[in-house]
Amino acid sequence: MQICESIKAIKASVSDARARELKIGLVPTMGCFHEGHLSLMRKAVQECDYVVVSLFINPTQFGPEEDFNVYPKSFERDAALAEDIGVNALFFPPVEEMYPPGYQTYVEVENITGILCGRSRPGHFRGVTTVVAKLFNIVQPDRAYFGQKDAQQVAVIKQMVKDLNMDIKIITGKIIRENGGLAMSSRNTYLNPAERNAATVLYRSLKGAEESIAGGERDPAKLREQLLIKINSEPLADVDYVEILSMPELQTIAHLQGKILIAVAVWFGKARLIDNIIMEV
Ligand code: PAJ
Repeated sequence: MQICESIKAIKASVSDARARELKIGLVPTMGCFHEGHLSLMRKAVQECDYVVVSLFINPTQFGPEEDFNVYPKSFERDAALAEDIGVNALFFPPVEEMYPPGYQTYVEVENITGILCGRSRPGHFRGVTTVVAKLFNIVQPDRAYFGQKDAQQVAVIKQMVKDLNMDIKIITGKIIRENGGLAMSSRNTYLNPAERNAATVLYRSLKGAEESIAGGERDPAKLREQLLIKINSEPLADVDYVEILSMPELQTIAHLQGKILIAVAVWFGKARLIDNIIMEV
């Protein structure tokens, strides 16, 4: 596996693959790999001939009060895991490589970034779409892989790809969970044992909502109320949002019908965790 710290080096490595007409896959990450990241890499290795993983903790997607400075890092371990899976190149640029002095261009998707995580984290998706657009331009992959764990991120990136006529297929990987249902996240490292245990309420309440729908519930307001009661019964939980929206439009709905997203964001101590399920009603 090649490790490239400069844009020049990763472009050279990919252009060589492209000259050989290989199908190029990209898995953007911020590192501290867990099974969620690894499952996307495995899928990419299966479906593509040349796989690039980017590992870049992107400062522009963190708010001033957020965890950019303490975001977990484990480069040596990450590189070994990616190599084991069969990743061909790891793009690991320093911040100045991606945002040199004088940098001033940003990519912003409008409406669907004003809800859910976009409401609680102003500017977050502008940072995500900017860095992902840059990674797409640098690597020019045929396919790019993202996890459903960040359902809104997938929707925003798909919108950007469509609006900016990018010729890239966006592939979504399912949510990988720990035993007990907690969705894997680099931010789970912020949880103490009691908080980690409490955080399993997210998946339990999402499953509860799924059961209510299976039992005939069609009123989103009632379902939301049930979810809130269940999550708030956990004293360590501090709810940011609980939302039920249509998929993929992310519109509020008066009646549960068709494809829906049930998405939650909840604080446990210093960790803001998100989780969701997508289902057909
Ligand atoms: P990061 O949080 O490192 O996640 C990288 C990819 O792994 C994302 O597509 C995310 O949805 C996916 N992922 C994380 N946890 C997952 C889980 N439990 N199951 C399945 N997939 C999971 O998301 C980002 O980085 C950044 O915003 C990025 C897209 C790299 C732009 O900076």
